[in-house]
Amino acid sequence: MTRIILIGFMGSGKTTLGRALAKSLGLEFIDLDNYIELRRCKSINSIFAEMGEEGFRTIERNLLHEVCEFENVIISAGGGTPCFFDNIDYMNAQGTTVYLQVPEERLHERLKIAKSKRPLLKEKNDEEIMQFIKEQLERRDVFYKKAAHTFISDRLEDKEQIKESVERFRKQFDL
Ligand code: S3P
Repeated sequence: MTRIILIGFMGSGKTTLGRALAKSLGLEFIDLDNYIELRRCKSINSIFAEMGEEGFRTIERNLLHEVCEFENVIISAGGGTPCFFDNIDYMNAQGTTVYLQVPEERLHERLKIAKSKRPLLKEKNDEEIMQFIKEQLERRDVFYKKAAHTFISDRLEDKEQIKESVERFRKQFDL
């Protein structure tokens, strides 16, 4: 039974790599944010707006426990998922956790053009996003580093790079 759980900062490629990897391995792909939106019939932005971050984190934890029961899946967690409650220990117990590590400049490049669906970023300008990345990475690193493995995820910028990253991932983890 395969259950790989991808963690890492927003923009680290959890969804992009996870989807491509699942396709290549013939596994199901579950994106936790997407699962939350479907189960709650609401966007992540609306959940944050209506219930605050605290409400979102409770929902996130509860639904993490649902998706981590699924078998033969690649799961992409949200960027904050490992950093609340005992989520990282729980994920480590349920599957093979992989931290997708990306230099902060590359995260910035990716996030400044993909902020509208991300409540923690959408009101920020480019400079504030960089500041947020630096501050949060420093705080979150300790949780991300608890993953069983690390994969350098800085090359996902086009189809060719995604294909190469999938191959490199499969080789690294003997899949
Ligand atoms: C968050 C990351 C988002 C989403 C929410 C909060 C975070 O997921 O769960 O906006 O705290 O880093 P992605 O990493 O998939 O963008």
